[in-house]
Amino acid sequence: MTDDVVLASAKAARENAHAPYSKFLVGAALRTPDGQLFQGCNVENIAYPEGTCAEAGAIAAMCCAGGREIAEITVVADSPAPVPPCGGCRQKIAEFAGNDVVVTMATMEGKTLSMTVGDLLPGRFSEEHMEKA
Ligand code: THU
Repeated sequence: MTDDVVLASAKAARENAHAPYSKFLVGAALRTPDGQLFQGCNVENIAYPEGTCAEAGAIAAMCCAGGREIAEITVVADSPAPVPPCGGCRQKIAEFAGNDVVVTMATMEGKTLSMTVGDLLPGRFSEEHMEKA
């Protein structure tokens, strides 16, 4: 599977984003090690804090199907520069991805930026911090 397939899948997911408040449509797609693809889009709510990000949707779809490992993930939005996942989504991605997993950020015009999970979330909260619990 090429990165293009994951990007195309993220773009298709973006088409279904529910973003009437921000008007900022976001799509995400992730691939699991066995090659399955899962998509997500942002789903906003009139009670603004209840909205969810595209990455969260893709992760929920993966978990629902029994997946627990992200091999790669791509996020796309119509922005001038590739949109980085928000802080909360970085932690959500890190739950299912090692530091070396690549996160690709893309614009609708074709700009891309790829970074690792470790670079996006240095010093992440992890199970080691709970060892005394
Ligand atoms: N958003 C995402 O879905 N993913 C990101 O990585 C950045 C932000 C959404 C949340 C909200 O619906 C809209 O973009 C504007 O913040």
